[in-house]
Amino acid sequence: MDDIDKTGNLRRKAEEEFKKRKKLSSFEQKEKVDLQAMVHELQVRQSELELQNEELIQAREKEHKLEEQLRQSQKMEAIGVLAAGVAHDFNNILTAIIGFGAMAKKRLKEDSISKEYIEEMLAGAERAAELTRGLLAFSRKQVIIPKLQNLNTIVFTIEKMLSRLLRENIEFKTVLSSSDIIVKVDASQIEQVLLNLATNARDAMPDGGYLIIETGVADIDKHYAEANLFENPGRYAVLTVSDTGIGMAPKTSLNIFEPFYTTKEVGKGTGLGLAIVYGVIKQHGGNINVYSEPGKGTTFRIYLPLLQSAEDIKPEIVEAIPMGKGETILIAEDEPNVRKVSRMYLQEYGYKTIEADNGGEAVKKYKENADKVSLLLFDIIMPIKNGRDAYEEINKLNHTVKVIFMSGYTDDIVAKKGILEDGFEFLSKPLNLDTLLRKVRGVLDRQNAFKEQ
Ligand SMILES: Nc1ncnc2c1ncn2[C@@H]1O[C@H](COP(=O)(O)OP(=O)(O)O)[C@@H](O)[C@H]1O
Ligand SMILES: [Mg+2]
Repeated sequence: MDDIDKTGNLRRKAEEEFKKRKKLSSFEQKEKVDLQAMVHELQVRQSELELQNEELIQAREKEHKLEEQLRQSQKMEAIGVLAAGVAHDFNNILTAIIGFGAMAKKRLKEDSISKEYIEEMLAGAERAAELTRGLLAFSRKQVIIPKLQNLNTIVFTIEKMLSRLLRENIEFKTVLSSSDIIVKVDASQIEQVLLNLATNARDAMPDGGYLIIETGVADIDKHYAEANLFENPGRYAVLTVSDTGIGMAPKTSLNIFEPFYTTKEVGKGTGLGLAIVYGVIKQHGGNINVYSEPGKGTTFRIYLPLLQSAEDIKPEIVEAIPMGKGETILIAEDEPNVRKVSRMYLQEYGYKTIEADNGGEAVKKYKENADKVSLLLFDIIMPIKNGRDAYEEINKLNHTVKVIFMSGYTDDIVAKKGILEDGFEFLSKPLNLDTLLRKVRGVLDRQNAFKEQ
């Protein structure tokens, strides 16, 4: 009996246990399903978060890149201001050295021993002027004379000169777009850009390689324009210069546009080549990118605002320096050396001159000599009255008075008062003897035609 009871008890216990377990396991099962749903939800949430995180990282990287670009361009701006200041003063000094040197040379006999010295002196001064021009170009203070040009023609024109610069182990190719690419640029400046880039490519390929210059067109959308510090979105002409040379590390490519940055040994590089390129392109409202890796060559991509229509683009014809016919020119210039050089140039070539060292004096001298003066040669920045104001005052007395403005750099006033935009004749300093005399003759000869209109 005991045994039976025992068994019955045991069975009951087992049944209870079983029931309990069954209950628990259905409860557990429900819990399991819930848990699975939660896990799934968590997984979904996690991948959402991962995605968001990824986006955040990308946004931060983009912001970082933009900040870096902005910092870089501000730094370039600051260096530019410094460089422009130095270059401006040097320009005036060099105008005097080159001007007087050229005059002295002209007066010496062919066999004079001093002639060689002076030639050396002038060559040195020209090199200094070259450096100054480089600094001015970098700081975008150089006066550029933009005209409608076909980019293909510019590349085609300079091709021969570039191939002369390269060694025989460098294969040079141009790939020009089949349609005209019309841009408004100072052609000589773009040639300078190509020259500097080609020189660097040559230096980067001591063992030979390929240099390829391509022209094309690209649409820059708002997004890309913002991300790459373009002034405006739109259609751009693209000039690509690639080489298969040594390339450069990312750290190097960050600094290459700064003036005086060079990795070349002393005497081999000035570090101004790319600074000039940068300045010229920015001054033309364009942009420049560099893609490079060590050992994998380098590609510079230049963007210039594209124009739709083409005007007649005529080549310039170079003629002998024209002589004066005894006309009187009123020179207003506050820098004594520049004034003296201009006077000497003009007198040497058959003109009479009257001088003023400021704008107020210029107006006074004009009034005294109104019947004699055929042309005004005015510096733009002068004490008392600037060149433009002095001209305006004289123009009130004589509407047909002719003027040529000159300046060492594009001072604010040039931009503000739009000397160039208003179609005035303009000369940049250091004055070039040829250019001055041609311009003076050209303007004087146009005077009659102008009056008839
Ligand atoms: N095509 C190129 N391949 C490799 N490195 C280049 C190239 N162009 C420029 N660089 C680097 O940029 C530096 C600055 O160039 P640049 O301003 O022309 O000055 P420089 O040629 O006088 O050194 C060079 O010293 C060189 O390190
Ligand atoms: Mg260089």
